[in-house]
Amino acid sequence: MHAARYRRLGITDVMAQKGFEMCRRATQRTGEIEYATTLLLPRELRVAIWALYGAARTIDDLAEESANGVGSERLRAWIRAFEQDVRHGGSEDPIRAALLHTASTWHLPPDYLRSVFEGQLADAAGHEFASWDDWYDYVALVNAPFVIQTASMFVQNSGLSVSLQQEANTLDVWQNLARAINLTDALADLGEDCAHGRIRLPAEALNRFGVRREELLEGGTPPQLPTLVHHLTGTARKWFANLPQLPPILHPAMGTALTCYIDLHHLLLDAVDHQADNLPCHRITVSTRQSRRLLLTARATTSLAWALFPSPLGDISFHHLAPRVNASVAFQPVATSQRQVPRLGGTPTAALPHVLPRHVAIIMDGNGRWAADQGRPRTDGHKAGMKALDDVVNGALEIGLSHLTVYAFSTENWKRPAAEVNALLYTLPHDMLQENAARWHERGVRIRWSGQRAGLPLNMFSILTSLVEQTRHNTRLTLTLCVNYGGRAEITTAASRLAADAIAGRIEPNSVGEALFATYLYLTDLPDVDLLLRTGGEKRLSNYLPWQTSYAELMFLDTPWPQFDRQALRSAIEVYMQRTRRHGAAEAPQATSV
Ligand code: IPE
Ligand code: IPE
Ligand code: MG
Repeated sequence: MHAARYRRLGITDVMAQKGFEMCRRATQRTGEIEYATTLLLPRELRVAIWALYGAARTIDDLAEESANGVGSERLRAWIRAFEQDVRHGGSEDPIRAALLHTASTWHLPPDYLRSVFEGQLADAAGHEFASWDDWYDYVALVNAPFVIQTASMFVQNSGLSVSLQQEANTLDVWQNLARAINLTDALADLGEDCAHGRIRLPAEALNRFGVRREELLEGGTPPQLPTLVHHLTGTARKWFANLPQLPPILHPAMGTALTCYIDLHHLLLDAVDHQADNLPCHRITVSTRQSRRLLLTARATTSLAWALFPSPLGDISFHHLAPRVNASVAFQPVATSQRQVPRLGGTPTAALPHVLPRHVAIIMDGNGRWAADQGRPRTDGHKAGMKALDDVVNGALEIGLSHLTVYAFSTENWKRPAAEVNALLYTLPHDMLQENAARWHERGVRIRWSGQRAGLPLNMFSILTSLVEQTRHNTRLTLTLCVNYGGRAEITTAASRLAADAIAGRIEPNSVGEALFATYLYLTDLPDVDLLLRTGGEKRLSNYLPWQTSYAELMFLDTPWPQFDRQALRSAIEVYMQRTRRHGAAEAPQATSV
């Protein structure tokens, strides 16, 4: 009975059990390579991958239905229902129940999944890939997240000690893998896809070889087709071959499973090449005899590896797994600042009127409305916002500020359309942040990141960790980028880690005071904020730095962020310096220095 199988893994919700089983079947039916590979993995991971794959299949089917003219309403309704389920913490739909269970167990943020779904929705609206760049963007948005989340589950739970830097270095590996898998699948499914009126290859590639799209869709086999197919299988093979070795990061059995997964794709590419001049209108599959041979060897190797190096997950149930994962995803800074900052009740210098604020925090808001006012897309607002940030950082250096902290992406911002999330977390960091940061580094800016690790795409994570690493010895200005940051999440993560330490006997509950609690926050040495500034006209805090701003001076400006600059920063600081801060005392303390 399947229920007992899932119950043994700690999955007690009947609806989720049913969903996991449906996802298992969907994976077995439609993802033979994926299914065979999951059987090489520990059961906890296996069922989680089935759930992700099964859900992706369901959405794919709905998207395809929509593309066939049934309308994207059913897919929209599915996404809306998922949102509601997230709020209720459970679902009446088996697939969504399994997906929710997996998301909460492995800390995959539901909003993150939603942004992937929206990519699918765009696909349902008849997305065609004009160029390779379009195709890469789509893979980065829709396919890579599944690969990357699965990879994160592998890495975070492989039981080996992995530095953040090492993990970040694997980004390209997963992106590359997502491209290679997607291209292989698009080729294996080409005949079947054409029969359904779609082609998942860029028009640029078809044109290059003179293959007409219309002819393929009509079931024709143009004479140039084999050349195109061989060229593309060659490209996929090249991407697979460029994957560097991963053993230092993965458990040896997982390394074997990954290699087997890639080898199975090679078999599929061989099968595609073999049938290149006459693509069947069903999906091309690998020969059972060949795949069995690969799988038998892999199974023997993985069994041995699991026996020699037991799975860190062992037989523990999901209930025990959850907090473990939670602890491992909290970002811990490596370096500590040399500047010790007075907290409340400490030396009063930073709290005095007429004194430069030590720490200015900014909610950079109003990009979207600024762009819309000019009839431009919201993403143009974010681009302009990056320029404003560059000017403000230079202003902060001129003024001699020691800490500037900016809100770049909140945990709530996942609710935005996928294309906007993509611009904020993929395109802009690549195109502008790295370039700006190189200049800031030359000027002595130390960059830090505050936020939640879980759900942050590996490319952004990789950029942030390498900037933090490169600039860690700079001392002029500490610039903290809050990315995938949520204030309540910061405090609850701290509380959870503190509770774990208390249970383990490492701290005495009676000794927990504000100072000790603060050492559990994302950045242990981020000073209290003196001036909190929000541009864009809204008068709210939007879950920004609740712990650190408890005594901050607040300033709300109508200027949209793209129009803010160093001069505006200077003016805001001048206003701040006229204010009187009392920190609860009857009178403000006397200034001692400027
Ligand atoms: C702030 O600008 C930037 C981010 C949240 C990333 P918005 O995008 O919120 O702009 P408005 O508030 O919609 O104008
Ligand atoms: C806050 O702005 C987050 C950032 C500036 C990154 P939002 O625009 O997301 O906040 P709300 O939605 O207006 O509260
Ligand atoms: Mg806003």
